[in-house]
Amino acid sequence: MALRTILEYPDPRLRTRAQPVTVFDASLGTLIGDMLETMYAAPGIGLAATQVDVHKRLVVIDLSDERNAPLVLINPEILEREGEAKTEEGCLSVPGIFDEVKRATRIRLRSHDRDGQVSEAEYADLLAVCIQHEMDHLEGKLFVDYLSEMKRERIRKKLDKERKERAAAAPAGAGRARRTY
Ligand code: NI
Repeated sequence: MALRTILEYPDPRLRTRAQPVTVFDASLGTLIGDMLETMYAAPGIGLAATQVDVHKRLVVIDLSDERNAPLVLINPEILEREGEAKTEEGCLSVPGIFDEVKRATRIRLRSHDRDGQVSEAEYADLLAVCIQHEMDHLEGKLFVDYLSEMKRERIRKKLDKERKERAAAAPAGAGRARRTY
């Protein structure tokens, strides 16, 4: 397995719409392994293939404290949504930025697993929010798109400044305890 580079906002490649996975082979298994390793190392609770510049409809998530309960969703499709709540979100592609986004609190989802088997399941609360966040990535959408243009401008400037500083300094630990997906 190998760590993949996570694209950062406003990289235009994050705006690519991902294509369905049609072949469930060993190379898909390698990609899933790499994405899990990259997500755990970041650390984050979710990662979409788009974020590592692979434009396939694949997301990985792990909300467990032990980091040993990966959820792999391929070609996810929301069948039903219910409720609405605001949750603070972060994103590995928008490091250090957190803000509230309104999303459905329960979703019913159809997806493939890594062997290509289709199943349906219901997800609620943080897991439902995280799935919706990752599925946005597959459409080329980022959580900052829900914020005002003024906020986005401020975020772009902050990230640009930090990227310039990063070359010289060690990465900041700030925000590590918060949820980043
Ligand atoms: Ni994200």
